[in-house]
Amino acid sequence: MVGGVSTVMIRRLTLDDLETVVALEARNRAAPWTEGVFRDELAAENRIYLAADEEGLVGFGGLMLVGDEAHVTNLLVDPARRRRGIGLELMLALIQAAVPEGARHLTLEVRSKNEAARGLYARLGLVPVGIRRGYYGDDDALILWVHDIDVDEYRERLEGLR
Ligand SMILES: CC(C)(COP(=O)(O)OP(=O)(O)OC[C@H]1O[C@@H](n2cnc3c(N)ncnc32)[C@H](O)[C@@H]1OP(=O)(O)O)[C@@H](O)C(=O)NCCC(=O)NCCS
Repeated sequence: MVGGVSTVMIRRLTLDDLETVVALEARNRAAPWTEGVFRDELAAENRIYLAADEEGLVGFGGLMLVGDEAHVTNLLVDPARRRRGIGLELMLALIQAAVPEGARHLTLEVRSKNEAARGLYARLGLVPVGIRRGYYGDDDALILWVHDIDVDEYRERLEGLR
């Protein structure tokens, strides 16, 4: 177990999760990743994919490590399980796993209208540093960053969120 909240266990995402993950993604995304994309991601180097498990997979998230940067590639929680800290717990576990791999900075793109995700990322200290207009067609992408995720001060900030 990498981390956990109440009855939720955070663990590595594996090929055995593919069917559930693909179904969850298909139900909840306008442009869902296909099984092929998930297979490629799980097979690729420098990726960390974690699952939130509560008698079955209820969420997942992933990172790509590029030099000393960690890029969040995907994060999704089952709509029936949202607002219970699972997304936060996934992000905390991803960061915890990325830092020993050399990550010092964290970045991602988020839809400007995605209030839930923006709220979550703000809790983690991610701030908008740029905008890609029309990136999602119907919405702009905000480019978020948080630097120095490997220092004690940031670790303490995360401890405060747990
Ligand atoms: C974004 C997402 C992963 C959050 O998952 P979650 O498990 O519901 O999030 P948490 O319960 O851990 O919330 C943590 C914090 O994020 C913020 N947050 C979460 N949902 C929010 C919402 N609907 N509105 C405003 N803030 C929200 C809050 O600060 C929350 O803390 P609080 O509940 O103590 O106020 C989930 O809404 C989701 O799967 N959305 C669809 C996919 C998506 O947008 N992924 C991100 C793409 S970049």
